[in-house]
Amino acid sequence: MQAVHTLRFGDPTVLDVVTGLPDPEPGPGEVTIDVSHSAVGLIDLLLREGRFKDHPGMPQPPFVPGLEVAGTIRALGPGVSGLSTGEQVVALSAGSGTGGYASVYRAQAPLTVSIEGRGIDAALAVSVIPNAAMAHAALTQVAHLAEGESVLVHGALGGLSAAFPGIAKQLGAARVVGTVRPGRLAVAEATRLPYDRIVDSTDLHNALGDEKFDVVIDPVGGTLRTLSLDLMTPGSRLIAAGNASDDWGHQVDTNQLWLRSVTVSGFNAGAFLPTHPRFVPAALAAAIEASAAGLMETDVDVLPFSQVVTAHRRMESRDLHGRIALTPEP
Ligand SMILES: NC(=O)c1ccc[n+]([C@@H]2O[C@H](COP(=O)([O-])OP(=O)(O)OC[C@H]3O[C@@H](n4cnc5c(N)ncnc54)[C@H](OP(=O)(O)O)[C@@H]3O)[C@@H](O)[C@H]2O)c1
Repeated sequence: MQAVHTLRFGDPTVLDVVTGLPDPEPGPGEVTIDVSHSAVGLIDLLLREGRFKDHPGMPQPPFVPGLEVAGTIRALGPGVSGLSTGEQVVALSAGSGTGGYASVYRAQAPLTVSIEGRGIDAALAVSVIPNAAMAHAALTQVAHLAEGESVLVHGALGGLSAAFPGIAKQLGAARVVGTVRPGRLAVAEATRLPYDRIVDSTDLHNALGDEKFDVVIDPVGGTLRTLSLDLMTPGSRLIAAGNASDDWGHQVDTNQLWLRSVTVSGFNAGAFLPTHPRFVPAALAAAIEASAAGLMETDVDVLPFSQVVTAHRRMESRDLHGRIALTPEP
């Protein structure tokens, strides 16, 4: 098979296309997928840089980056039912964070979902369905979003964040507001995501006045996390879902949680979903329904594997309107 691999940690130039690697075979409970599109996410950049190299189970070079793929089922492993060869699917990572930038991907069957006949473009599907499933799990199992509640989403146009307005609306949220850095306000104006409003994250007080939110989704972290406490009321829930700001020193004062009577929870799909697999089918079903209903509309630039260095550089410089997906060379 063909793949992008990295022989060492480093900048985007450590990524290289290789051919002639052995095709993976499906084991029990697994499928292999002929990949049409591989998602590119911020986590791929962090793993390539070796940011988490000292954490147990994190990939060590050489490895093939990529967590999520779209394509068609190539072969079924023993014990797999409910999927057929040739069926169009999207697969989520089982947590290893590797293998996606390849022409053949081995996936766990329970983390593989059919999009056959749903009319969802494969590049869009791989870019939004995994994140939408994560958003569903976070909103239902961690934030316990109730119908009629309001939601604030930081980093509104980021890959993970972009999945929240559609899923929140699907779950009955009354209002979903996003925040972006000032440089992204023009892009935000053109978004087709179902935000009711998108505001400048550096000017929250002026933009929002006294408005408060029942649920805050925060994959950005840093000082924005503490500023968010002012946008919550007693009983509000904030989910710390990432640290795109790269501010690892900032801490939330837990006494403020007590005094304000608010909750801050963590959510990491790579830890949560394998521990609670019973939530995966409903999350994937909701993600597909939301995509098919047009609640996940975002631009996806498709680049061939040979342009993976460009793809990672564009992600690093935030030179994009939506997402980037990679596709194997013909
Ligand atoms: N909890 C989970 O299960 C889960 C799943 C996927 C990802 N994540 C985490 O979530 C975070 C985002 O991942 P992603 O894949 O969505 O990345 P992404 O597509 O690159 O999006 C990153 C978002 O963060 C914003 N951002 C970056 N640096 C910022 C800063 N200094 N201040 C304010 N906003 C900033 C970006 O804003 P602009 O649009 O203005 O550039 C963008 O909206 C990462 O920390 C990732 O590890 C968590």
